[in-house]
Amino acid sequence: MAQSSMTIKPVTGHLGEKLRSELSQEGFYEDFVEVNPGALVMPSYYTQFHQRYLDFIVKPDDIWVMTYPKSGTTWTQELVWCLIHGMDHKDASFNLMTRFPFFECDSLVPADMKCEPGQSPDDPCLPGNTWRIITNMPSPRTIKTHMHKPLIPKMLWQVKPKIVYVCRDPRDVCISYYFHSVKFDSYTGQLSDFVELFLGDKMPWSPFWSHILDFWQMRHQGHILFLTFEEMKTDFPTVVRKVAKFLEKTVSKEEVERLANHCSFSSMSKNKAVNNEDIMAIETERSKNIKFMRKGEVGDWKNHLTKHQLEAFKEWTTKHLKGTDFPYYQDY
Ligand code: PPS
Repeated sequence: MAQSSMTIKPVTGHLGEKLRSELSQEGFYEDFVEVNPGALVMPSYYTQFHQRYLDFIVKPDDIWVMTYPKSGTTWTQELVWCLIHGMDHKDASFNLMTRFPFFECDSLVPADMKCEPGQSPDDPCLPGNTWRIITNMPSPRTIKTHMHKPLIPKMLWQVKPKIVYVCRDPRDVCISYYFHSVKFDSYTGQLSDFVELFLGDKMPWSPFWSHILDFWQMRHQGHILFLTFEEMKTDFPTVVRKVAKFLEKTVSKEEVERLANHCSFSSMSKNKAVNNEDIMAIETERSKNIKFMRKGEVGDWKNHLTKHQLEAFKEWTTKHLKGTDFPYYQDY
């Protein structure tokens, strides 16, 4: 395979230092890199896998769910998996991380990370395990990624497996990502610090808008389905039928109802296979009451963002959407 012409360097500047001081920790997000062109931010362990990810052998019947973090990935994964295999499949109670692995999971942890007491050696979060799961998975493989279009396997564009892309209002993404980072990544900054990093496009898997716009521009291609978190909240049964049609599955009225119930926020919050309550997180006073399945609402940003922050979101959005036909979030 051709070597990538992209370059990788540490994230620099004031925001790079801020990111390092508020998010870095030993044995996890130790440092952050920027892949160019595009200033695509990734955890630094990504560097060693850059070429391997680009050269991944794609199969035509793979099914991918792609998102910027905190955009409704888990919700969409569970729906897609159930449409493919059925809610009553014997593996439906297995952890979603094994049924629907996270492609770049190895980029989050050092290669020599050891199994903690009480942790299974097969835990997908341990280095190498997710890659093994993906490469050994029977078809159709279901795979999640948060990576930008330029970083995902090159073969995707010749083989054209099905891709479900989901986006969410960045104001809600930012709030959800902040709580996630406090809970799971021991983020030490305040929300105002996080907003600065998010709008500075320095959080891992940023920049936000180029992530979305790359897929928005491809939304008419037959192998891509572009969804929004907001449409899922507004009319989930319609989304179930839309995704089923895209996956070439027929669903009865009863199945749509059962799926809507199974994928509701209250059901998923109680479902250990998807609620991520088993993920090892360092419990602190600050993090102990935060759950992965947190609120699942549209517009929670109204409870958190100041007028000044909202103006900054508006300016950032307007700048990035200028000249595009992305129709969204006109209520800024
Ligand atoms: S991750 O870590 O990037 O994969 O997170 P992701 O799954 O993309 O996003 C998590 C947010 O999605 C919400 N969620 C749901 N909302 C409504 N209904 C259902 N069924 C559902 N499942 C997950 C989850 O609560 C997170 O959003 P916030 O706003 O933090 O509650």
